[in-house]
Amino acid sequence: MPTSPHSWKHYKESEHRIATGTSTMSKRPRFEPEEPCYIAHGAGCRVWDIDGREFIDFRNALGPITLGYCFPAVDAAIRAQLNQGIIFGHPTLLEAEVAELLIAAIPCAEKVRYLKTGGEAMAAAFKVARAATGRDIILQCGYNGWLNSLASGGAVLPGVRQDAPLGVPSDIAKLHRMLPWGDLAPWEQTFQELDGRIAGAAVAMDYFAPEKAKDFVRGLRGLTQRHGAVLMIDEIVTGFRIARGGLHEYCGVNADLAVFSKGIANGMPLSVLAGKAHLLDVIEKAPISSTFSGETLSLAAARAAITTYRNNDVIGHLARTGKRFQGGLNDLFKQRNYPLECVGLPSCMALRVALQRVLPQLLSHRPRYRRSLGPPRQSHGRSCITPSTPALDERRPATTPAIPTGAAGGLQWRYPTGDPP
Ligand SMILES: Cc1ncc(COP(=O)(O)O)c(C=O)c1O
Repeated sequence: MPTSPHSWKHYKESEHRIATGTSTMSKRPRFEPEEPCYIAHGAGCRVWDIDGREFIDFRNALGPITLGYCFPAVDAAIRAQLNQGIIFGHPTLLEAEVAELLIAAIPCAEKVRYLKTGGEAMAAAFKVARAATGRDIILQCGYNGWLNSLASGGAVLPGVRQDAPLGVPSDIAKLHRMLPWGDLAPWEQTFQELDGRIAGAAVAMDYFAPEKAKDFVRGLRGLTQRHGAVLMIDEIVTGFRIARGGLHEYCGVNADLAVFSKGIANGMPLSVLAGKAHLLDVIEKAPISSTFSGETLSLAAARAAITTYRNNDVIGHLARTGKRFQGGLNDLFKQRNYPLECVGLPSCMALRVALQRVLPQLLSHRPRYRRSLGPPRQSHGRSCITPSTPALDERRPATTPAIPTGAAGGLQWRYPTGDPP
């Protein structure tokens, strides 16, 4: 692997000007010199850094690139819309057209509203749940965006928890509870303890334990119904990835509210709050409104991306390529006795330490493998998936495309003791 003097030199200089080095914390490069600091351009499943190095990319921009970089149908839609205008003082027909596509694809969607980020749309869901029920407390499971990292023990970044989230007033923290994935007992107990005070429960899938999804999410559906609370499914990662309708479709459950984002516009900034009409209509009295919500380039991209999903078996492709890649990685880990295993759904994988193989190798390989990889996407074909497995081999020639480490929303890393540093 060649050194990357330009990338790292520029990055270290920019750390003096940009707080945390880059605006998305999960994109922060850590492994000098292998890791690319600055990407110059991408095409399909590949990216090139500013030093001209080419990589097969499994980060997928942290999730939203589900079809590929510069996907022709999406880029053409953006260019065509650019000629018409980006944003206006009135809505465009695109809002209604994309709504129709979303309502057809998302099981719980009777109505939708657009926002820009996943976290913003989850905050909107919490407001709607509170306004509709007249209650204050929100139960959460998983990361729902920085804006909503409010509970004690809550996820402040994907996979990173804080006992007392800094910057959150304690009176607000008290209105949020973080509960575990896959085990209904603590949820039942909390609903009993706080009976009549819980506005809603928000759940995002734990990529390490998807086998618990069906029983758990169905159980939560029943529990929230019995207690008059709103069930909110965070489909920001799972939507248009494990199925078009995400966990809803996978579990056969209809939530009251859902948020979709990363999979819907192949990288353009768009999130969708979807759900029951009577809940979305609460927004009339509890306003949620933002200047950029109906911005047309993202809606044009969403229309093209969702149409691509409708006309092609994108979900099947993600599952098939993911399975090949996951199998290849696990074979390689076994052959080399690396204490790692790739688990989870093939289109939404997670990488963890294989406890039965936690040997001294763990220490020697830890720096290289401690971050996450990303899931597959439509543009990953057999030729990309197959050579990627040996790309983890340290003996590969320097010119072999490497696998950049992944991050949130993709294949995640977990230490046996808990969360990543
Ligand atoms: C499950 C989940 N929910 C919410 C979010 C927040 O989305 P955004 O970063 O667009 O605010 C993320 C981001 O990674 C996520 O993975």
